[in-house]
Amino acid sequence: MKDFVYSTPTKVYFGRGAQLKIGEAIKETSVSKIMLQYGKGSIKKSGLYQQVVNAIKAEGIEIVEMGGVEPNPKLSFVRKAIKLAKDTGVELILAVGGGSVIDSCKFTAIGATTDVDVWKFVTGEETPKSALPVGCVLTISAAGSEMSSSAVITNEELNVKKGLTTEFNRCAFAICNPELTFTLPEYQTACGVVDILSHTMERYFTVCPDTPLTDSIAESIMKNVVSAGKKAIEEPNNYDARATLMWASSLSHNGLTGAGRENYLVVHQIEHALSGEFDHVTHGAGLALLFPAWAKYVYDKNLPRFVSFAKNVWGATGKTNREIALNGINAMQEFFKALKMPSSLIDVGVTEKDFLKIANNCTRNGARTIKSYVNLNNEDIISILHLCK
Ligand code: NZQ
Ligand code: ZN
Repeated sequence: MKDFVYSTPTKVYFGRGAQLKIGEAIKETSVSKIMLQYGKGSIKKSGLYQQVVNAIKAEGIEIVEMGGVEPNPKLSFVRKAIKLAKDTGVELILAVGGGSVIDSCKFTAIGATTDVDVWKFVTGEETPKSALPVGCVLTISAAGSEMSSSAVITNEELNVKKGLTTEFNRCAFAICNPELTFTLPEYQTACGVVDILSHTMERYFTVCPDTPLTDSIAESIMKNVVSAGKKAIEEPNNYDARATLMWASSLSHNGLTGAGRENYLVVHQIEHALSGEFDHVTHGAGLALLFPAWAKYVYDKNLPRFVSFAKNVWGATGKTNREIALNGINAMQEFFKALKMPSSLIDVGVTEKDFLKIANNCTRNGARTIKSYVNLNNEDIISILHLCK
């Protein structure tokens, strides 16, 4: 097992009616003026917006509003939010929504404390040194941003979608009421299930062999996500299934399932290139296409790991280790199909002529390779994309 630092400073308020604790949660941070960000309207339709605003105002806390965060949040929106945050002197940024809203808030919180343009933090030209606190009321189990140290943004001028990982990205608090996810469209629930599973798989497919405890935690999370995912699709108002998904969303991406080993998030890097070039591609749908393809491309480079995955997560069998490993990957692919995820890039409007563009986006025009069981260059990424046709 490798040395590691495990820090999850986010205070989680989990359970039914948890959103009503929002006033209390903000008060604990000793601020009196906040910025509220939300998405395209789901929280107004569900009534959550009014509940949250009432609970905050009841504590005498002032609200500056900035609604309209798009899925796959955009840099131009964040720059406007940063200006508003500075002009109004807000002290905390509150996200009510999913990963897109939370990530928009994380960038706003960092940008509000500096004159450096936040894109420079993403490119690595500058390193963030401070941030306002961020809190969230989570409405979709998916990205894990509520406890993660990452935030992802799209620079729409460059068609580049990229993440920033820093401890300043950890939310001060996360309010997680599984009931708030009952209103999700089936497609978004399914995309979320794929994303949660992928966050754990990315860390499970490691080159570090001596992490049996972390492996068992990861396998248990994956099995629970598969069964709760099926249940939540069949019965959208099943509290226990929704609760399992919500807690798994946080645990899959807060560092727990990667403790003691290297993490590359390789499929995520290819997916960010895909949805960076094609903004309409939902993150989870992109992962559902790419994960089985990547796995088929690399599985024989670490057969024992893929055999464990096949047996322990999917109960796969077979006559040889290769057969068992492939049966496990096929079981994952069948699960994604059962969730009605796209089964081909053509389904999301991406064709062979786009492959080089996606590969170049990922490798920065061939300037880097993506670390994996095989270090992936443009040619490898194009081969993986061919497996998604
Ligand atoms: O905009 P609104 O109206 O809120 O609608 C949203 C949006 O259309 C809707 N929605 C959310 N909660 C709902 C709801 N509709 C009905 N009822 C509810 N309770 O769902 C749609 C998707 O929302 P979004 O926030 O985009 O989903 P998600 O949480 O999957 O976030 C995706 C973003 O997170 C990034 C992705 O790349 C993508 O940009 N990621 C962030 C990570 C992180 N910060 O750690 C890690 C992930 O790997 C991921 O890359
Ligand atoms: Zn993800």
